[in-house]
Formats: sequence, structure tokens, C-alpha cells
Amino acid sequence: TRTPVNVTVTGAAGQIGYALLFRIASGHLLGADVPVKLRLLEIPQGLKAAEGTAMELDDCAFPLLRGIEITDDPNVAFDGANVALLVGARPRTKGMERGDLLEANGGIFKPQGQAINAHAADDIKVLVVGNPANTNALIAQAAAPDVPAERFTAMTRLDHNRAISQLAKKTGVAVSEIRRLTIWGNHSATQYPDVFHAEVAGKNAAEVLNDEAWLADEFIPTVAKRGAAIIEARGASSAASAANAAIDHVHTWVNGTADGDWTSMGIPSDGSYGVPEGLISSFPVTVKNGAYEIVQGLEINDFSRARIDASVKELAEEREAVRALGLL
Ligand code: NAI
Repeated sequence: TRTPVNVTVTGAAGQIGYALLFRIASGHLLGADVPVKLRLLEIPQGLKAAEGTAMELDDCAFPLLRGIEITDDPNVAFDGANVALLVGARPRTKGMERGDLLEANGGIFKPQGQAINAHAADDIKVLVVGNPANTNALIAQAAAPDVPAERFTAMTRLDHNRAISQLAKKTGVAVSEIRRLTIWGNHSATQYPDVFHAEVAGKNAAEVLNDEAWLADEFIPTVAKRGAAIIEARGASSAASAANAAIDHVHTWVNGTADGDWTSMGIPSDGSYGVPEGLISSFPVTVKNGAYEIVQGLEINDFSRARIDASVKELAEEREAVRALGLL
């Protein structure tokens, strides 16, 4: 029998946590034959609700779930962690400036990065979901100098999945017929969903669409503003779809991309495509044997270049702001 994989989830009592934990425990994160131990990190006010969720997890009698530990201490939560899903974050509240938001999140992601550095397993893989995800990932990474930098990633898979869904609808094909879609840049309103290298049932998506106005005026804003549209409709932010994307991100990172396809992940830039080195930006990536690689050699047209540059500029500004706060 396999040794269980330790999976740490922060913000476990939140709405994404509630949608995420049951799927991890039922085998969707790592595979149907991989036992897991869950560590739930919450702030003291969240502990009781996390205990309630743990009771429900017990009541599912999941064969793969080999234990649940609940704590408000990052040093305990990340002890021996193989996979860490950093979901809990400080949301932007009314009147909050970006600097305040980054500082408040620095207060969360710096100590968590330090605890990962001190206690996590050697093979730790970190996914940051909590917003601003790319820059929170950068803060945690900077606080964990002994962990290889590429183990810190940020989630743009929800944007990726949203874009696939919109493109499938528009072209009238099944989502499984869409391949090679790319989200570039920041997980924010400046993100750039790129269809110029995507395929619709084996044909180039941009050629199938042949409609740059639709891309600029409908597709890109619909994908980039989908989070706000969900809040407007549901009265609460995306939770099940965000949890699903987190599952997809880690599952792909562990189990690989399909032949001939790629995915989107927020990862530390190596300078590819003119993205300054070290920024945690979304790229097209293939994954094999638990390691990702940026897809190289894609031709970037002027339409794409301007949009990638705008999103990367925002990431660079966020990095400057957290640098000024002494978080890097
Ligand atoms: P939520 O407010 O329902 O839950 C957040 C939970 O985190 C709360 O239970 C809170 O007590 C906990 N928490 C706060 N600080 C913590 C800390 N220092 N350690 C441990 N736990 C802590 O929020 P929800 O809806 O679950 O969303 C979580 C985050 O995910 C938000 O930042 C949201 O913006 C982000 N998000 C990111 C997406 C992406 O595509 N990257 C998509 C959707 C949401």
C-alpha cells in the first residue's frame, strides 16, 4: 500500500475550501489510487467551522482519506506537506488601496512561506489560489529560499477553463475539442486569453472564428470579467468552479498534460516571451513527470503582444509594491 500524500489546505473553512476538500478526499486531486492525509489551516475564528467540515468528511467514509488535522499554526499545517493549496487570503474591502491589500496579504503569505521553508517535504508543490494570487505566490516564494523557486505557482486554470468553455460555445464544439488555449499574465482583469494558437476540432481557432472584433470586444472581456459576473448572479464569488480549477491545476502538475495539448499555469518566468525573469506570470506549459516546461517558439502577433505586455506590466508594478513593503 502507498504512503499517504500530505495535502495542506489553507482557508479550509471558506467557500472554496468547502467545495475543494471533498474532491481531494475522494481522489480527484492526485488519482483514484493515492491515499491522502489532510491538514486544514484556518485562523482561530475559522477553526470551529473547519471542524464541522472535517465531521462531514468523516461521514463520507472516503476510502482514500487517511486522516484530518486542523490547526491555526502554519508550522503544524505544513509539517511534511507534499502539496499545499493556499486558498485563505485577505479580500479587498471597501476603500482599501492596493498597497494595503498587498501588505495585509504579506502578513499571511510571508509566514506561510517561512513555515513551508522550514517544515514541508522535499517534494512540496505549492498552488496559490488566494488573491492577488500571482503576487501572493511571489511573497511566499521569497520567504522560502530553500525550496526550489519553481515549486511556487499561482492559479490561472479557472481563467483557462472559462476561456475553453466560451470558445466551445461560440464555435459549437464540445469542450474536449478545444486544445492549446493560453492564459498569459496576471490572474486579474488584465489577463490575456489567447486563441491564436488554440485549436477547435483540430483547426486553428483564430481562423475558425475569423472575427478579431469578437475576440477584443466579447471573448476577452467575458473571460476576464467572469468572476464579477458570477458575483452579480450568485451573490457570492466563484467557489465550486475555483475549487475545480485548483483540482485541475494540481492534477495536471502531478499527472501531466495530454500529448499535443498544454495548459496555463502562473509560474516564475525564466524570461520567455519577454516576461521579466522571476515574475509569477501565466504561461502555456506542458507537464511531464511532475515538472512543467513553458511551451517555446510560439509566434506572438501585435494583438497578443500588446495585451501580454499590459498584464505583465501590472505584475511588475505589484512586485515593485511588495518590494517597497520589504516583503521580497
Ligand atoms: P472565503 O472568504 O469564503 O474563505 C477564506 C477563508 O480563509 C476563510 O475561512 C478565512 O478564515 C480563511 N483565512 C483567512 N486568513 C487565513 C490565514 N492566514 N490562514 C488560514 N486561513 C485563513 O473565500 P473564498 O471564496 O474561499 O476564496 C478564497 C480566495 O480565493 C480569495 O482570495 C479569492 O479572491 C480567491 N479566488 C481565486 C481565484 C483564482 O482563480 N485564482 C478564483 C476564485 C477565488
